[in-house]
Amino acid sequence: MKYKIAVLAGDGIGPEIVDQAIKVLKAVAQKFDHEFDFKPALTGASAIDEVGEPYPQTTHDTCMESDAVLFGAIGDPKYDNDPAAKVRPEQGLLKMRKDLGLYANIRPVTTFDSLLHKSPLRKDIVEGADFVVVRELTGGIYFGEKGRSEDLTKAFDHCVYSTEEVERILKLAYSYAGKRNKRLTVVDKANVLCTSRLWREVAQKMEKEYADIETDYMFVDNAAMQLIQWPKKFDVMVTENMFGDILSDEASVITGSLGLLPSASVGIHTSVFEPIHGSYPQAAGKDIANPVATILSAAMLLESLDLPEEAKAVRNAVNRSLEENIVTEDIAEEKACKTSEVGDWLAENI
Ligand code: IPM
Ligand code: MG
Repeated sequence: MKYKIAVLAGDGIGPEIVDQAIKVLKAVAQKFDHEFDFKPALTGASAIDEVGEPYPQTTHDTCMESDAVLFGAIGDPKYDNDPAAKVRPEQGLLKMRKDLGLYANIRPVTTFDSLLHKSPLRKDIVEGADFVVVRELTGGIYFGEKGRSEDLTKAFDHCVYSTEEVERILKLAYSYAGKRNKRLTVVDKANVLCTSRLWREVAQKMEKEYADIETDYMFVDNAAMQLIQWPKKFDVMVTENMFGDILSDEASVITGSLGLLPSASVGIHTSVFEPIHGSYPQAAGKDIANPVATILSAAMLLESLDLPEEAKAVRNAVNRSLEENIVTEDIAEEKACKTSEVGDWLAENI
């Protein structure tokens, strides 16, 4: 089969890690007799530098015409310390999510036995942890009305959710729970926030339609604590945009494998697959960043194209590379490989 894949490499280490995922996808194409047509497009700080905006229309058109989007990372330190910057790379990411209707961000958190010692938590706490964070991605405080008072001494960000927005993300979270261990934790702050009470109201209604799934409810502060204390008790966790932003970062480090975790953003139009880590500017161009999170994102991309065998070939190659210590310096025990060497090895071992 023939597929069109938009490639938004972005900033920092984005281009070099995306290159490795492309190598692996090319090996998959060869082995399974597919054709992947890669269409590069600008995003992030590099797009601002070239065309003045972080998610230009041409990039959006490329995404819309593609079967999937492979995304690297965005962000540049020159914007981080400048709160007055008019355009920021992150705006590109938010615009892409909104314009592609990507209302759900899926982050599977899995442990790799060979890396348990890298976790900041005790081995007995994390060993076997395996859950998915489903984060609402196009609503809430990120996208509500925001502004400053005329005298600039006050600022506000509105948090807004509609029943429909809550229903569609819960539906998706239930479908994940149904395919997994049939447990769904709805995380909110219903003791304080009106939007959270709407979430809970909608969830309590829907829970009856999913009688085979055990639904429980947790306040976000408690969830932040329980994730650290008992990560193994979670199966699927669903939550609103900002809580999900925070909890998914927390979740991603507890297994000790930040450089290995992929994500998918799905919704109305083309889905986007990207590593959960950022653009790691300090490592850009050094050929040292771990490409595996991006390569496992490519595996999720293959699954979304209904190519499970192909995805499995990628996952198997990654597992073998970890066993054989063909890994970058962030997880290497002895001799570390370069980013490009890991990519080459994985491509050869598909
Ligand atoms: C993420 C990031 C983004 C977010 C930033 C870069 C805008 O932290 O994808 O989690 O907050 O959503
Ligand atoms: Mg985040």
